[in-house]
Amino acid sequence: MSVKPSRLDRLLRPLHRWVWANASRRGHKLLRFAQTEEDGGRDLARAAELTPDPLLRRLFLRHAQDEQRHAELFRLRGREILRWIRRASPMLGMYVQAFEANWFAPGERGLDDLRVERGKEDSLLAFLHLSEKAAAGRFAIYQQVLREDPATRGVFGEILQDEAFHMSYTRYQLSRVSPDRHRLRLWQARFVRIWRAYLRIAVALAGLLGSAMLLVQYFVLLPPFAWMAKRSARKEGQVWFPKSAPTSLRRQY
Ligand SMILES: [Fe+2]
Ligand SMILES: [Fe+2]
Repeated sequence: MSVKPSRLDRLLRPLHRWVWANASRRGHKLLRFAQTEEDGGRDLARAAELTPDPLLRRLFLRHAQDEQRHAELFRLRGREILRWIRRASPMLGMYVQAFEANWFAPGERGLDDLRVERGKEDSLLAFLHLSEKAAAGRFAIYQQVLREDPATRGVFGEILQDEAFHMSYTRYQLSRVSPDRHRLRLWQARFVRIWRAYLRIAVALAGLLGSAMLLVQYFVLLPPFAWMAKRSARKEGQVWFPKSAPTSLRRQY
């Protein structure tokens, strides 16, 4: 099954190209993706334990194994890139490490937010379907912009095939386990994703505003106080005098 990136991602292709162009950022992002995939794999293994449906149990287990394999592929490639950078230029790796643009180019987002509960397979399938669909579209655009790094591009290509399978099996199983309510479940899952995206943006914005306020305090509010403190110190003159050093080593004063 071929997966197409979303229209928005296609429009933002130059920005995606810029995010992935930096080798250090690429390496760190792949390590972060590995973490998300691993967390998702654990949650899916838990979902397989909880479901009474034998077919879903098998599918969830296979899905969990896939996510674990993705984690290993991402980790391996991420480490390879970072090792190469450390050998080529140790300072470069340290400099870009802090900025990964995760808000703009996340990995399989959704897997890190999974809520696994007994008896709610339809909600889980709906949420999984939307997350897998979004991830598959994103991985497709990452694959397109990584022309200069064929090895990483190959990793995304390999993982994309599994993501396409995850996307289709979750949709099919949702219709099977919830034939009357599958559309409702999908809308509910959409709403949950939008709400979580809003929370993520709100937290990021709050962090940004907090940093801006601190900078304003530091550069605008503090200097006048420092100046006033210096001026009053000059006016008061010297109010204490250093004690002369002890002349003898036999006594303290
Ligand atoms: Fe995955
Ligand atoms: Fe997946």
